[in-house]
Amino acid sequence: MNLVFIILCVLSTSHVTYGYTDNKVRRFKDGFMFGVATSAYQIEGAWNEDGKSESVWDRYTHAHPEDIADRINGDVACDSYHRYKRDVQMLRELGVDHYRFSVAWTRILPTGFKDEINEEGLRYYENLIDELLKYNIQPMVTLYHFDMPQSLQDLGGWTNPLIVNWFEDYARVLFDRFASKVKYWITINQPSSVCVDGFGDPALNVKENGDYTCVKYILLAHAKVYRLYENQFKSKHKGSVGISLDINWIDPYNKTTENDEAAERARSFKIGLYMNPIWSKHGDFPDKVKSIIAKKSEKQGLEQSRLPSLSADEIKLLKGSADFLGMNHYTTFLATPARDEHKSPSFADDLGVHLTHGAEWIASKSPWLKNAPYGIYKACVNINQEYDYPPVFITEHGWSTGPGRRDTRRVAVLTAYLAALLLAVEDGTELKGYTAWSLMDNVEWRAGTSERFGLYEVDFDSANRTRLVRTSGLVYKHIIESRDPGDGWMPSSYRINVSDRLQKREVREEL
Ligand code: BGC
Repeated sequence: MNLVFIILCVLSTSHVTYGYTDNKVRRFKDGFMFGVATSAYQIEGAWNEDGKSESVWDRYTHAHPEDIADRINGDVACDSYHRYKRDVQMLRELGVDHYRFSVAWTRILPTGFKDEINEEGLRYYENLIDELLKYNIQPMVTLYHFDMPQSLQDLGGWTNPLIVNWFEDYARVLFDRFASKVKYWITINQPSSVCVDGFGDPALNVKENGDYTCVKYILLAHAKVYRLYENQFKSKHKGSVGISLDINWIDPYNKTTENDEAAERARSFKIGLYMNPIWSKHGDFPDKVKSIIAKKSEKQGLEQSRLPSLSADEIKLLKGSADFLGMNHYTTFLATPARDEHKSPSFADDLGVHLTHGAEWIASKSPWLKNAPYGIYKACVNINQEYDYPPVFITEHGWSTGPGRRDTRRVAVLTAYLAALLLAVEDGTELKGYTAWSLMDNVEWRAGTSERFGLYEVDFDSANRTRLVRTSGLVYKHIIESRDPGDGWMPSSYRINVSDRLQKREVREEL
């Protein structure tokens, strides 16, 4: 028995030996990768140091500090720009195989364009990558995680067709410098959050007119960068490139035809819109989404659909443009048809669905996040059915709390979701790895530090942003060692009921 296990036994009040009602032990295979994730704006700080320029989040939080829950923004954040060695030390303490972090475009290309390459910015990431490799931790690098250079946003950001070339220029600088060291690349984090949920341009919150234009060009930019790597770097460096999509599960609120349709519609708008062009047999946006938006647009007196079309060449560029699906999964929603009328044309109006949570589901500190572990299993099985078993990497999953290090709720959620994932693996998901959000508390966008996702707690009042491990960090370490999420401390109420799973045979037969 190691020390971590003894500490955990003392900390946990009720624990069972197995994570499943059939008492079967299920384990992640050797080679399965465990990691943790962060993003540049949320942890780095040093917002204007060493040549870094202003991003949309710098501009917005400086102009509207009143919009941020506790007025803590990314100016200093966790100060990882100066404390990255401590971050790597924590990664070693956890024993992770990979670390997913993002690069700030504004550190590399201060004008947004390739005319000026900032060596000091590159050196920061080089130091971090070297420190990771020194300890055999694989870097997984996200090129864009919500922090668009303000200079490019002023030119329309993701709604300007030229962004496809600008993003490719930026990616080339990173590939040229780091392709020999980085084997896992993620182009874009959560395009739906960027284009539809207001994370891409928090100040303008581009919606209504720009949302679908943004969807088109962000996907094309992704595909262009995928092809760049495929054509010029892959054979030499043997890395892989994916995209991280926001794939929360959506079920009908209860079994009625109306609710079934609402859930399916919501999945097409929130998942299919991004998955289909890359992974479906025919490429392109889902037919259902195309026809709903086209009809609405016509009624609204528009000559063309608000959803731009994809040309045959664009469809070809996009189809198959990912080596793996990065799945960011946090929760499940329950769908009913929307009853409220939207006055202006909008994504919400096109969607026409009201999303809620199960009344009995346990709540986190974030209003949108409740516990429903089976959702991750259903999302995986559905992806298999719809898109023919793509390789999947869970690139984010996490739980928010307030401050405090004894986070038993996060432990229960983490173990239950991992247990549910193992069932998905049994039912055919080609799961490469799991990445917990997040290594440490960080700046949770507009929620500041009021919602904390860290396996390490960060003291934002201390000058050196002290990081201390939470109970969940110790548990995660033990899971990484034992590869068994049910081993020791899962509360019995969180055990996964194996009889709720979709039967393996049914799943295969529907293909
Ligand atoms: C985002 C993270 C965010 C997390 C928790 C994810 O969708 O990629 O940046 O902190 O959700 O809200």
